[in-house]
Amino acid sequence: MKIFLDSADINEIKTHQNSGFVDGVTTNPSLIAKSGRNILETIAEICALVDGPVSAEVTATDFETMLTEGRKLAAIAPNVTVKVPLTEAGLRTCSALADSGTKVNVTLCFTAGQALLAAKAGASFISPFVGRLDDIGKDGMGLIEDICTIYANFDFDTEVLVASVRSTQHVVDAALIGADVVTLPPKILTSLYKHPLTDSGLDAFMADWKQTGQSIL
Ligand code: G3P
Repeated sequence: MKIFLDSADINEIKTHQNSGFVDGVTTNPSLIAKSGRNILETIAEICALVDGPVSAEVTATDFETMLTEGRKLAAIAPNVTVKVPLTEAGLRTCSALADSGTKVNVTLCFTAGQALLAAKAGASFISPFVGRLDDIGKDGMGLIEDICTIYANFDFDTEVLVASVRSTQHVVDAALIGADVVTLPPKILTSLYKHPLTDSGLDAFMADWKQTGQSIL
C-alpha cells in the first residue's frame, strides 16, 4: 500500500521524506491556505522534493475554468496529479484531462456511486473521505470496502486513495481491505511508528545492555 503525505507544508514534507515512507503528497485548497504560500510555487517546490504523485487541486467550480486551471497545474511538473471535486463539472474536467494524458485525483467522494462515476471518467485516483463520514456517524471504511469491490468487479485502473484519515486504525483497516493508497496527516504517519510497549521494551534492553559494559563498536 502506498503512503502519501497530506500536507502543503514544505518543512513537514522534508521532515518525513527522509523516512522513505512518503510515496506521494496530496494538497487541497485548505492545506494551501494553511501554508500561507502561493499555490504554484508551493506545488513546484513539493514536486521537486518528492518523486511520486503530487495532488494539486483546482479552485474553480465550472468546467471551463477547472479545465484551464487543471492544465496550468499539470504544466508545473510531470508528477503533478490534478485534483478535482466529485461534481458533474469536476467529472467532465476529469474526463477531458485524462483523455489528454493528465493524471486526475477525484476528491470529496462520499458514496460508492460517486466513485463508480469517477472511475468511468478515467480518474487515476479516487479520494473517499472516511473521517468526515465517521464524523457524522456513517461507516467510512465500509465505503472503502464497497469501492474496492466495485473496482475489482470491473477491473477499473483507478486507485483507491483513502483520505480524511483520523487514526492509525484507519490505516490498518484500509490495508486490510486492500486500498491502494492512504494519505496521512504528518501526525498520523508519526503515530504509526509509536507503541508504548516498544518504548518501554527498548528502555529495558538498553538498561540491561548498559550493565554488560560492552560495546559493539
Ligand atoms: O486530503 C483530504 C484531507 O485533507 C481531508 O481531511 O481531516 O479535513 O477531513 P480532513
